[in-house]
Amino acid sequence: MAIQVIRDRIFQIETEHTCYQIQADRHNILSHLWYGPKTGGQVMDYLQDYPDVGFAGSIADAGNDRTYSLDTRLQEYPCEGTGDYRISAAGLEDSRGLDLRYEGYEILEGRPVLEGLPQIREAGNPLQTLVLHLADKVTEVTCDLFYVVDEENDAIIRSARFENRSGRPVWLDRTASLSLDVHHGEPVGLITFTGKHNKERQFTRRRLEQGIVSAGSTRGTSSHQQNPAVILTGPDTTETAGWAVGAMLVYSGSFRADAEMDQLGQTRLVMGINPYGFRWKLNPGESFQTPEAVLIRSDEGLEVLSLRFHRLIRQRLIPPRFRNRPRPVLINTWEAAYFNFDRKTILDIARQSADMDIDLLVLDDGWFGSRNSDNAGLGDWEVNEKKLEGSLQSLIEEVNAAGLDFGIWIEPEMVNEDSNLYRTHPDWVLKAPGRGPVRGRNQLVLDMTNPEVVDHLFQVFSKLLTDNHITYVKWDMNRSLADRHSDHLPEDRQGEVHHRYMLGVYDLLDRLTKAVPDVLFEGCSGGGGRFDAGMLYYTPQIWCSDDTDPHERTLIQYGTSFFYPPDTVGSHVSASPNHQTGRRTSLDTRAAAAMPGTFGYELDPETLDDLEREEIRGMNQLYRDLQPLIFHGRYYRLTNPGQGMALWQIADDDRVLVQGLVYETEPNALRRRVRLRGLDPKAVYRDADGMRRTGQALMTGGLLLPLTSGTDAPVTVILEREKTQ
Ligand code: GLA
Repeated sequence: MAIQVIRDRIFQIETEHTCYQIQADRHNILSHLWYGPKTGGQVMDYLQDYPDVGFAGSIADAGNDRTYSLDTRLQEYPCEGTGDYRISAAGLEDSRGLDLRYEGYEILEGRPVLEGLPQIREAGNPLQTLVLHLADKVTEVTCDLFYVVDEENDAIIRSARFENRSGRPVWLDRTASLSLDVHHGEPVGLITFTGKHNKERQFTRRRLEQGIVSAGSTRGTSSHQQNPAVILTGPDTTETAGWAVGAMLVYSGSFRADAEMDQLGQTRLVMGINPYGFRWKLNPGESFQTPEAVLIRSDEGLEVLSLRFHRLIRQRLIPPRFRNRPRPVLINTWEAAYFNFDRKTILDIARQSADMDIDLLVLDDGWFGSRNSDNAGLGDWEVNEKKLEGSLQSLIEEVNAAGLDFGIWIEPEMVNEDSNLYRTHPDWVLKAPGRGPVRGRNQLVLDMTNPEVVDHLFQVFSKLLTDNHITYVKWDMNRSLADRHSDHLPEDRQGEVHHRYMLGVYDLLDRLTKAVPDVLFEGCSGGGGRFDAGMLYYTPQIWCSDDTDPHERTLIQYGTSFFYPPDTVGSHVSASPNHQTGRRTSLDTRAAAAMPGTFGYELDPETLDDLEREEIRGMNQLYRDLQPLIFHGRYYRLTNPGQGMALWQIADDDRVLVQGLVYETEPNALRRRVRLRGLDPKAVYRDADGMRRTGQALMTGGLLLPLTSGTDAPVTVILEREKTQ
């Protein structure tokens, strides 16, 4: 039993390696007792030893007990206006505050379905759910806290559901998916993934001091700048030792993760929809469900934390039908031709790609309406038959005849002012009354809170995808939201725009992916501006970054790997010099950097010589051979890029791939030595030259890397595990 009531009103959740304890205390406040390794049956309430702390007031029911203050206690779901001055998980726009107290519990087999939201799936071992019922007697708002337990992946999936049981409307102004309090007594670190367009998810680590550190987005997307996935760590946590708690939001819109170290050295992490600009009206009887947040803990360092998240995402998040399906090696027309193509350009790319053993051609931006630059045409999803010199289906047939499948780029959520859609429906965009709209890439954002808009888009794209033989879609989103006003919503619901926008996007994704279930969708937002668990529920892969420079990519992919497995990472070989940085690199370097992902190309085959074409054929063959390992194997970070090389290892029971880039080659140096991870110590591993080493030796003595030369030198070593007779 993963969930147990171990004493009256003490709840214990046990996963394979972790234990979580909650107590409904004498005042019906939900106390957080423990989240850590298993306790051997010990209830951890003895750690709740609170003195009378100055200026920490007590709740009314504590009477004269000055030691009972919500400002000092570890809690499960702290609320605003209760005398807890730290960050809170939930609050109402109401001078009476919100004071949620425990009323009862339920233990469910399986998990509740969250309507309209991406969520962790029932797959593999059965899930169990603890529901804690809370209520505020004064405002008559209730809140159910959900703890969905995935024992095998050591995951506890949290969310909250509010309901207005009063006779008048209330407004929620903060509704976190999770709050987690951590005991005092040691410094706590916070890892976030920061960046910008073309430089997403840079590993950023700091030690918390008294005060608040926030990572969040107000852009209506999870963003390039921060990622909705953060890690709390112990003071000395490394890849292989120390505790780490990862929190990953299953959401793609504006979010916030706040970590606060309080005056007593306790730490609180609160994560959910960004409260900035959020105000949600609940009429009597209405309810509000937060997105889910996945908590995973490791007491063996960051590597194990990542392995657990990877397994959970592969098993329980991405669309099940793509879990074991080989993914195509693709070529995308964007960096090959940008907007400047005609039928011949596309067919030339297709034929040359077929000759290089590529599986799928993706026709990127520029195929529709008057879209010959990024200033016009978005919204008009009629095929530009003049530019394509015929119908789309006839082009697809020619591409298919050349031997390639066909994929297409779309950007459903956007419109250019210079488009027929905007001219017909100027009220279909987000825009504040009386103001001009904020433009981004010269485009406006469609009002996805309006079901009429979503229905229109569904009709347009389901027709496109059923009328034409399209097997892959790149779903892009190329600006941040700014205007927070929808003409579709009444005045008192304008604070709901950003979240309702996301619900509209999810609705469209859900309907479209169900309408054409065999079409592979790849997410994208100017590269990796919406690389999150919410999107992965619908699109099993996401274009990782518009920066295709292999050196830069190793840094981006390093940060991405902490939560997201390589099979979700869109990574391609592009031209040299690179279009974003101007860096010159060899094909081998570019291939090594792109290999741990969903491989492909962003270049014009016309520019390649015969030798390069031959190399590409070899690379594709190697990738196809390695894809099962990359998609299902265990991923280890062998180095961090700060060590002058980015090396990773992917291992399954048969093979080990050791790969990466060595940034600089040092003169007069010994061959670099790197210790491998997660091998069978007793097994023997053999390299391509027939050298045999035990797993034990490779994990302790290490592997000598081949000699490198130049900068960003690629390393690819494949070891086969010998079968025991
Ligand atoms: C975004 C994407 C690119 C490309 C362009 C097309 O920037 O990330 O890959 O599709 O849009 O406009």
